[in-house]
Amino acid sequence: RRRYTITLLPGDGIGPEIVSVAKNVLELAGSIEGIEFGFKEMPIGGAALDVAGVPLPEETLSVAKESDAVLLGAIGGYKWDNNEKQLKPETGLLQLRAGLKVFANLRPATVLPQLVDASTLKKEVAEGVDLMVVRELTGGIYFGRPRGFTTNDNGEKTGFNTEVYSSSEVDRIARVGFETARKRHGKLCSVDKANVLEASMLWRERVTEISSEYPDVELTHMYVDNAAMQLLRYPKQFDTIVTNNIFGDILSDEASMITGSIGMLPSASLGESGPGLFEPIHGSAPDIAGQDKANPLATVLSVAMLLRYGLGEGKAAERIETAVLETLNKGFRTGDIYSAGNKLVGCKEMGEQVLKAVDSRVQC
Ligand code: NAD
Ligand code: IPM
Ligand code: MN
Repeated sequence: RRRYTITLLPGDGIGPEIVSVAKNVLELAGSIEGIEFGFKEMPIGGAALDVAGVPLPEETLSVAKESDAVLLGAIGGYKWDNNEKQLKPETGLLQLRAGLKVFANLRPATVLPQLVDASTLKKEVAEGVDLMVVRELTGGIYFGRPRGFTTNDNGEKTGFNTEVYSSSEVDRIARVGFETARKRHGKLCSVDKANVLEASMLWRERVTEISSEYPDVELTHMYVDNAAMQLLRYPKQFDTIVTNNIFGDILSDEASMITGSIGMLPSASLGESGPGLFEPIHGSAPDIAGQDKANPLATVLSVAMLLRYGLGEGKAAERIETAVLETLNKGFRTGDIYSAGNKLVGCKEMGEQVLKAVDSRVQC
């Protein structure tokens, strides 16, 4: 039997509910494929602030670094919203991404035939959409210096951040973009704001340069404002999108709605080496936390990405993805993807149904 150590970081809000479901699915699908897991649960975000006074305790990072993969629920909540920068749950997540050096964030957005009705877009627009956002995750305005607050001569407060990319940072994420597109439909759209921002001018220059290594991939460039519009106008034009940290954050939330709900979209964050970080793209959903209403499927699908990209266990990953489709085929829906005629279930029940579907495929 293969054995892996997984760090579980449930975090805040709906985090613990969805991670608990996803952990059970991972264990069952793994055991069927002859995989054994050892789990280590550690605090991050607000939960860590409450027990350790910092949003990413050193021990959480060291345990994560020593494991084979990291599964995160979500962080953040009203309670900590007014904390100073260093004591925000969000800072803990950024420190984790930086600490694990996971610079490439893969965020697939696929419209499942079962959920076409859940999309807010017209059926003919949403149907068949299958795109991948490759988001740079450890650079750009999230990490750029200088940053901070100052008070100018007339006593007015200023807040400032710096969008900064070096050519090596762009080159490595561009290569992930091209490699990803090569394995998909061979089309890469690089999204930037090169008509205005120097960091984007360099971005476009480097992506164009790197494209000579990938003659089989068709490269196009698009400004981010147009990309935001095109995603709603005709999303099927996109195959793979490569973009910076903040544009990737915004465009992936936008893309999620094409698929029906942000509660469906998983992600994988990978570096050159070391464990990957796997998390749904949504947040801690404080408005529904603790009510057994959260859709756990984004986290369940993140566990499938963990198996495929993090551990090279493609068969177990497929088993989970098939089980999710089967559960949707049977009509089970959480509130965020519910439409008339389906069976409305909570987070736990959705988890039970996915487990059943994983199991049933062993018996037959
Ligand atoms: P959010 O993604 O938490 O929620 C946005 C909306 O989507 C809410 O109405 C929520 O109920 C709904 N939603 C999200 N996930 C859902 C799910 N699985 N099932 C059903 N509905 C779901 O974004 P927000 O409200 O802007 O942020 C809330 C907190 O989460 C903030 O503190 C923010 O910083 C944090 N956040 C964390 C992460 C992360 O941990 N990776 C990501 C985004 C936001
Ligand atoms: C995400 C979140 C995070 C981000 C926040 C919580 C730091 O929105 O994972 O998409 O902006 O990257
Ligand atoms: Mn986000």
